[in-house]
Amino acid sequence: MWDERYADENYVYGTAPNDFLAAQAARIPKGRVLCLADGEGRNGVWLAQQGYDVTSVDLSEVGLEKTRKLAASRGVSVTTIHADLAEYKIQPNEWDGVIAIFCHLPSAVRHYLYPQTVAGLRPGGVFLLELYPPKQLEYGTGGPRDLDLLATLEDLRQDLDGLQFEIAQEVEREIHEGQFHQGQSAVVQILAIKSNDE
Ligand SMILES: C[S@@+](CC[C@H](N)C(=O)[O-])C[C@H]1O[C@@H](n2cnc3c(N)ncnc32)[C@H](O)[C@@H]1O
Repeated sequence: MWDERYADENYVYGTAPNDFLAAQAARIPKGRVLCLADGEGRNGVWLAQQGYDVTSVDLSEVGLEKTRKLAASRGVSVTTIHADLAEYKIQPNEWDGVIAIFCHLPSAVRHYLYPQTVAGLRPGGVFLLELYPPKQLEYGTGGPRDLDLLATLEDLRQDLDGLQFEIAQEVEREIHEGQFHQGQSAVVQILAIKSNDE
């Protein structure tokens, strides 16, 4: 499904970074950043332009090819990994930042992946997420229709136990991020830090 969606030469989610990421990225310590489900790379490539050492993981090889092309066009490089996050292993203590933008995963995969994300952050590292919660079904302005792929803030807090939450909110905002994400929307936004004490 994702390879088909990305087959068009246009970037279906645009080439500009996600609004929440662009507003908060300065809080990520300079270093290695892992972008989960980075799609066509708009977020990973932008982070590389800000000076981060970026690794993008996605299920779609077509999306990753477009990521490499976008990076080359901007004179930066991004390491791309073709993997299913249902099986991907995040090494402990490796990352200064982990980013998950519109990374809609089944609840079983979230329970597998997010505790590894907590362990994968270095002390002081930042986890940043924006995605659609179940309330987004009332808006119909983007995102999956399968309820299991839509997480509440409370679901995510449980999977991310161990982080210190600096921003943790369900809000409504106007989104214009490519042809599939358009209009007034409900989103969950998280910015959480791995404490230096861990
Ligand atoms: C809505 S797109 C968002 C892409 C990108 N984060 C952005 O904001 O432009 C969702 C992405 O999740 C990826 N994805 C979905 N399930 C996945 C899985 N199990 N493992 C890895 N990537 C997955 C898809 O390939 C797709 O690129």
